[in-house]
Amino acid sequence: MYKVAFLPGDGIGQDLKEVVKVFRDKIEEKYGFSFELNELPIGGNAIDSFGDPLPPDVLKECKNSDAVFLIAVGGPKWDNNPPNLRPEAGLLKLRKSLNVFCNIRPIKLSKHLTHLSCLKCETVNKGLDIVILRELTEGLYFGEPRGIYTQPDGSKVAINTMSYSSTTIEKFAKIGFELAMSRKKNLTSVDKANVLENSRLWREVVENLSKSYPEIKLNHLYVDNAALQMIYDPNQFDVIITENLFGDILSDEAAALVGSLGLLPSASIGDNKPFLYEPVHGSAPSIAGKNIANPIATIFSIALMLRLSFERNDIALDLENAVEKVLETKVGTADLKMKNTIGTREFANEVLKNL
Ligand code: NAD
Ligand code: IPM
Ligand code: MN
Repeated sequence: MYKVAFLPGDGIGQDLKEVVKVFRDKIEEKYGFSFELNELPIGGNAIDSFGDPLPPDVLKECKNSDAVFLIAVGGPKWDNNPPNLRPEAGLLKLRKSLNVFCNIRPIKLSKHLTHLSCLKCETVNKGLDIVILRELTEGLYFGEPRGIYTQPDGSKVAINTMSYSSTTIEKFAKIGFELAMSRKKNLTSVDKANVLENSRLWREVVENLSKSYPEIKLNHLYVDNAALQMIYDPNQFDVIITENLFGDILSDEAAALVGSLGLLPSASIGDNKPFLYEPVHGSAPSIAGKNIANPIATIFSIALMLRLSFERNDIALDLENAVEKVLETKVGTADLKMKNTIGTREFANEVLKNL
């Protein structure tokens, strides 16, 4: 039986935890396919219990699992903690330790949610199907030196370092080219090569790699223009590859195109398993504990895990279709502004009924 390290985390992570469990049970019952959920602490709750956002035993369990499933970490309670005692530090250490350098964030507009999109009808009616690949283990998030330093005159200076190795850029970009080959053969690389050395190296590596993919239409965009084009004409995109921070920002922007951050799943892959699965959204403290969080990002993340770690594309497709069927009945959580608003648990149950 597959073993999943299950890290619900903080805030709405706790509301969505039960959803993952009921889907596990239903999948076992309907398909005879089981995976074990080994629940472990991470983030704020791990700080409270163990004084560490990613205790060594938890990391060890994750590494010894077939897949890692995390919901979200963070919250105001820990916002003033020192950097290594912040919930987010646990998540970043987990990504780095698993070396999952390619974060896959699919953005697809449901035809039942076009009323939510921030875009004009004529754009929305064309549909929307983009995949953002975000590099996840280098860049400003991890570069050294970093810190806040006091100067001789008593003033302070804060330093973060953006650093990228050509090895990582190449491995990462290759996944983008391969993905584009299986889709519309249209790849956009987003950088800031007019200013940053990091981006110049990025562009050089991507350009070199493109020689091995003559069928791919490769386009380079500066990140500021990419942010504009995403709103202006998102249908020009198929697969986007970009560095860590740019990918973080552009994927939240993309959530507004499809209507809610509560819809976007992600998978983070590397050279070796286990891979990491997590919704794109955070712990949403203001809606936590109210049974109103949208469970779709979590359900779609389960689908990605079934597809990419357990070779069960059949079940993944069934899950995705079941969500669509519920949306078709004009029922959704509050963020979806449907005719009928229901809670997290109730929505998850509707999806299960349609499975
Ligand atoms: P957030 O993603 O938690 O919330 C942004 C907005 O989206 C809020 O309005 C929230 O209510 C809404 N939202 C998010 N998920 C939703 C869902 N499932 N259903 C309905 N609405 C949803 O981002 P934030 O407010 O900037 O950050 C809150 C905390 O989460 C911070 O501590 C941050 O560091 C953390 N965070 C964690 C992760 C992660 O664990 N992967 C990701 C992003 C943010
Ligand atoms: C995300 C989040 C994280 C990130 C934070 C919580 C560290 O915003 O997964 O998108 O910036 O990667
Ligand atoms: Mn983010």
